[in-house]
Amino acid sequence: MNNRIFTVGSLIPGRLIVKQQAPVPTEIPKPKTEEMIIEQNGNKILIQPVKGNLLDAALNQGKPINYKCRKGTCGQCTVRVVKSPGLSVPNTLEQKKLIKEQLSNGYRLACQTEIL
Ligand code: FES
Repeated sequence: MNNRIFTVGSLIPGRLIVKQQAPVPTEIPKPKTEEMIIEQNGNKILIQPVKGNLLDAALNQGKPINYKCRKGTCGQCTVRVVKSPGLSVPNTLEQKKLIKEQLSNGYRLACQTEIL
């Protein structure tokens, strides 16, 4: 409730003091900690991590990821994991298909990677 009392003097033009409210700070959006970021062919893709296969998670969320065999042999689903809460260790198919340097730089076969 506004308890402000106006007097005759306060209504004289130029004497009315209006307090300006301090600007409300705009909140800086925090990045969602649960969000997962992968990259394929230079395209960054955001995924909400759900337990299960990475390729299926992306496709179920309407995220376009190239893929073909789903068996770990074609390499079409190769992605670079930029940020992830937790993934399975590369399996033998990934170790065969991807070179050691790719694996150490976060590249994975989406069809063979499990989100933990
Ligand atoms: S879809 Fe072929 S290796 Fe993943």
